[in-house]
Amino acid sequence: MQDHRAPAIIVHGGAGHLGADDPASSGLADAPRLVGVRRAAEEGYRVLAQGGSALVAVEAAVRILEDDPTYNAGTGAVLNAVGEAELDASIMDGATLRCGAVAVVRDVKNPVTLARLVMERSNHVLLAGPGASLFAREVGIPAIENAALVTPAQRARYEASRRGSPGTKTGTVGAVARDRAGHLAAATSTGGMAMKLPGRVGDTPIIGAGTYADDRLAAASGTGHGERFIQLTVARHAADLVGRGATAAEAAQATIQEVGARLDGEGGLIVLGPTGPAGFAFNTQVMARAYSLPDGTIVAEL
Ligand code: GLY
Repeated sequence: MQDHRAPAIIVHGGAGHLGADDPASSGLADAPRLVGVRRAAEEGYRVLAQGGSALVAVEAAVRILEDDPTYNAGTGAVLNAVGEAELDASIMDGATLRCGAVAVVRDVKNPVTLARLVMERSNHVLLAGPGASLFAREVGIPAIENAALVTPAQRARYEASRRGSPGTKTGTVGAVARDRAGHLAAATSTGGMAMKLPGRVGDTPIIGAGTYADDRLAAASGTGHGERFIQLTVARHAADLVGRGATAAEAAQATIQEVGARLDGEGGLIVLGPTGPAGFAFNTQVMARAYSLPDGTIVAEL
């Protein structure tokens, strides 16, 4: 009989639309966007299989996606209106409801780890801008040049946008996991929206909007139009639906349907409850994702 509390993880690499500048548009099974989410899910699952916590698993998975220039998070993030990367991230522990987040970070390679340190080593939930950088130095995270986060592809995309090309939107990354003890966690990281105003903060570092985890409900991580996700507190909305009896798949589907129907918003969501398989939904063309099956096999899909 299947153990419905078996360790499980699902990660996403962003919801969006295929376009000429999108490496995933080749449609190949080994498209870079699929390779990264698979690697992230495999690493997260390895942590869980060795008895590690869901919190450690989601941080490990998101770090892999932050370091992969294919994704809009960490290195390779989209650029804002003045050509700089500004990063947001958050993490939440469903066992304790402790959470941490950072916003408008310009000089940290792995914002999800800084978010975890905000949770564990400060009395706050969310630090932004220069204060987040100051805290990073205090807890030993070295500063990097903003230029080190900017890939040639994102610089070219920025220059094309300035010349009037609409380009394609790419998404955020995230992971939700359940460990052997049945605890849940969620983490999300992003460069936000291309050409955003400097200082703009989306849903990703807003607990309840881009990220949520509560062992009594579910864990969820979103990708999409952050302003819309904030308006509907998407991650908490989906977790509440699971708390009221929906499966993770039903909760993801109903929540994304509402984002589209009520706000004309686009995006995707991954959800995992205290029992049962992970669920996901998106109302864009694609959402790169990878998830574990009960036997530990990792499935990657676009
Ligand atoms: N969902 C990411 C953002 O809008 O910033």
